[in-house]
Order: sequence, then structure tokens, then C-alpha cells
Amino acid sequence: MKAKARAHTNIALIKYWGKRDEALFLPTNNSLSMTLDQFYTETMVEFDSKLKSDQFILDGMEMDQRETEKVSLFMDKVRRYTGESRYALIDSVNHVPTAAGFASSASGYAALAAAAMKATGVNFSEKELSKMARQGSGSASRSIYGGFVEWQKGELADGSDCYAVPVLEQGAWDLRVLSVEVTHEVKKVLSREGMKRTVETSPFFAGWLEAVAADLVEAKAAIAERDFTRLGETLERNALRMHATTLGANPPFMYWQSSTVQVMEAVQVLRESGVEAYFTIDAGPNVKVVCQPKDEERIFAELMKLAVVQQIYRCQVGPGVNYLEI
Ligand code: ADP
Ligand code: DP6
Ligand code: CO
Repeated sequence: MKAKARAHTNIALIKYWGKRDEALFLPTNNSLSMTLDQFYTETMVEFDSKLKSDQFILDGMEMDQRETEKVSLFMDKVRRYTGESRYALIDSVNHVPTAAGFASSASGYAALAAAAMKATGVNFSEKELSKMARQGSGSASRSIYGGFVEWQKGELADGSDCYAVPVLEQGAWDLRVLSVEVTHEVKKVLSREGMKRTVETSPFFAGWLEAVAADLVEAKAAIAERDFTRLGETLERNALRMHATTLGANPPFMYWQSSTVQVMEAVQVLRESGVEAYFTIDAGPNVKVVCQPKDEERIFAELMKLAVVQQIYRCQVGPGVNYLEI
């Protein structure tokens, strides 16, 4: 009746950007991520026959109608799939900034899916959890697993073959991600809205789809060979290609701020001086810098010198979903 789960966020090395079916959260392309150890969500779900509607508490605060409805819509999908009929109390804590481009929707919906499914009393497979998490937020499908993860777009219209699969387990390759915060403001264009506008209006979207398929092949080969240079060059190029599509949208939009560009330039300067670092950026102004353990200290020290940098979170490869005692 009651369960609690923890799920970590993930950073996409090859981006999910575009839906072919918005209601079912079916993406236009496969994506590939690394789960992060530093950012996570813990969510408790309790089904209760006395409740007249779902109740959603985030970070100790009762959420407004809009946020509660969003979560309740997701809980309807869980109820439909599992046969559970009761409403639930959902109590969640984000150990990650919410809606600021640090992938709170990924850890948030992965933790919610896992806790809700478990609270029905039935044990569901990770594949089923991934499919369910996907229907809360696409990137959440990948946060069910630790390590390096691919979300397969699938071919079927009902989404039954659309879920994430593990590519490389947590301990198999020690890469580091420096999550560089230049602002923790909530983003102006949510990921959902941004990708929708891009799909509908950007003439560059067709080019993105063509490029992302090749980038994915390249990134998977690099991971299989543990070839950091090849992976780094691919992930940086893929992030730039994703952001280029937003400039072609109508109305156009851009997730970068001047501080974002300053961090990107600093990474390029580091590289020119022989230190291998590569950046990627999600739907927000903060930058994630991917590197090998031997270079982390130096890169951290250099980036901390930038006046625009507020904080740097040092991440390693993180684990998949796990359940907590209550
Ligand atoms: P982010 O970069 O943080 O993933 P998004 O725009 O993708 O930003 O998603 C942010 C939204 O995800 C929030 O506005 C909220 O609706 C949802 N969300 C975040 N954390 C949680 C959580 N712990 N439980 C349920 N939903 C959450
Ligand atoms: C740029 O998963 O947050 O971070 O499916 O609409 O909830 P919804 O969007 P979301 O989009 C993430 C976009 C991205 C790239 C990525 O994580 O792959
Ligand atoms: Co998100």
C-alpha cells in the first residue's frame, strides 16, 4: 500500500529532443545518457481508500492545483496499468534544483513510477518501470537504470517497445561530470514546450533527426571502446546540434545566457591547452562538463575562477532506482 523509492537524474550525452506522440511520450529519436550520483529524488507513495483525490507534496510543501493535476494525470496511467483504484498521497523530496535544467523531471518521475508501482504490491520489471516513467517525463525512462543507458524510441504506435535499456553498468567506466551552475532560476521555456515548438516550427528539425542517428552510432561505439575523445567530441557536437534547432523555431528561443557561453569558451580553452573536457547543455543555461578522473581537479579549479560560476557539483556515474525502508 505504501512504498518509497530513490532515483537519480541523468545527463543526456545524445539528446532526446522531439516527440512523435505527445500523449504517450514517444520520442522522434533514440537518446543516450549517463546516470549521475549527486542528484536524486526520493518519493513515497501511499494508496489510501479514504482519499478523494491525489495529494502531492514536494519538498515539504503542498503543491498547487496545476502541479497536483500533472502528477495526478500520471497516477491515472499507473492506476490504469496496475488495476489499482485508490487515490494516493505522494510525498517527494528533490535533492536537485527543480525545473532548472538539472533533470528533476527525470529523477522525479523515475522515483514516482517506481514507488507507485511498488505500492500496488506487485513487483514490476525494470522494463515496465521504464515504460511507465517515460509517460511522466521522457528522460525519466533512462533514470530507472544506473551507468550508461539508451532509450529506444521503438517502432510501435502504442509505445510497447519504447523503453530504456542499460548499455554499460555503473562501475564499468569512471567518467566525471562537473555540473556548472550559472543560475538556479526556473527555466522560461520548459523542455516539453521547447521541443514541441521546435518539432512544429523549426526548419532545422529535419537536420537534427538526420544528425542524431549518426551521433548515436558514434557515441555507442565510443562507449564500447572506452574511447573518451571520440565520446567527448560526439556529445559536444550533439548538444550544439540540439540547441541550433531552437534558434530556427518560431518564435525562436535560446536556453543559453552569456554566462553559459563563457563556460563553453573556458572548456574550449582548456582543450586547446591539452586538458580534455567536453560540454553538454540541456534545456537551461547551466553547463555540464564531461571529463576523465585524472583531469577533474584541474578543470574544476579553472572553471571556479570564472566570475559567472555560482557553484560546481562534481558528479560520478550513478546507480539505478532503489527502494527505501519506511
Ligand atoms: P528539469 O530540467 O528539472 O527536468 P523540466 O521542465 O523537464 O525541468 O521538468 C520540471 C517539472 O518536472 C516540474 O515543473 C514538475 O512538474 C516536474 N517534477 C520535478 N520534480 C518532480 C518530483 N519530484 N515529482 C514529480 N514531478 C516533478
Ligand atoms: C534537453 O524529459 O524533461 O534534457 O518528456 O516533455 O518531460 P518531457 O521532457 P524532458 O526533456 C529532456 C530534454 C533534454 C534532453 C534529454 O534529457 O535527453
Ligand atoms: Co526534464
